[in-house]
Amino acid sequence: AVFERAPSKHLGPDYKSQEERPSATVSTRVDHKNVTTLPQTPQLIALLTMIRDKETNRADFIFYSNRINRLLVEEALNHLPVLPHTITTPVAGKTYAGVKFEGKICGVSIMRAGEAMEQALRECCRSVRIGKILIQRDEETSKPRLFYDKLPADIKDRWVLLLDPMLATGGSALMAVDVLRSKGVPEDRICFLNLIASPEGIANFAQKFPLVRIVTAFVDEGLNEKNYIVPGLGDFGDRFYTF
Ligand code: URA
Repeated sequence: AVFERAPSKHLGPDYKSQEERPSATVSTRVDHKNVTTLPQTPQLIALLTMIRDKETNRADFIFYSNRINRLLVEEALNHLPVLPHTITTPVAGKTYAGVKFEGKICGVSIMRAGEAMEQALRECCRSVRIGKILIQRDEETSKPRLFYDKLPADIKDRWVLLLDPMLATGGSALMAVDVLRSKGVPEDRICFLNLIASPEGIANFAQKFPLVRIVTAFVDEGLNEKNYIVPGLGDFGDRFYTF
C-alpha cells in the first residue's frame, strides 16, 4: 500500500465560493485496491469532528459514531456480489430489471469495542447473525491472545463483516482473521469495517492478508508510542461504554 500525506480540502456546498468554505484535514490517501475510504463529505467530516472532540459527552459519542457506522455498513454491503433480479411492479404488469443480494452474510465483532458497531449492522441487515471474538493483550508476552470465540457453525459459507472501530497496529484484527481462516472462511470473503485506521495497520493487513477488504471512514496520520492512533479519538471502548 502507498500512502499520501493527509491533504486538506474545502468543504461545504458548491454554491458557496472557495473563500466561504472552510478547509479541513481529510483522510490520508491509500493506494491499495482492497482499501475503501468513505467519501470525505462535509457530513462525514462533521461527524468525525464530533467523535474526535474530547469534550463530546458519551451520549453524543454513541449517537454520532452510530451514524458513521451506518455509513460504513452501507458501503461494505456494496462490496458484496449481487445477482440479476427482475420483478413486476403493481403498475400494469410493468417489470423492472434490478438485482438482489447473493449469498449469506454474518457480522463478527472483536470485543469489546467492535460490539459498538453491531447496532448499525442490525439496522441494515434484519436478523443478521453476529459472532464474537475476544482477543486481549497477554500481560506477560504483550502479544495479542485469543480468549474466546463464538461463531455461526456455517461461517465458512458466509460473507463476513468483521467489526472493530479502531485499526491501530492491526494485531487483534489480524488474529481475528486467522481465527476466521481456521474455520474455513476464504480471505476474500472477509470485509473489515473500521472508523479510523492507521497507515501502519493498513500496511500490516496489506502484507499479511492482501485479499481482505478494508472499509474505513478515515486513515489518520499514524501511531504514538503507546500505539494510540493520532490524532485519533482516544480509547473508543472507554468513550462508548464508560465515560
Ligand atoms: N484502540 C483505541 O480505542 N484507540 C486507539 O487509538 C487505538 C486502539
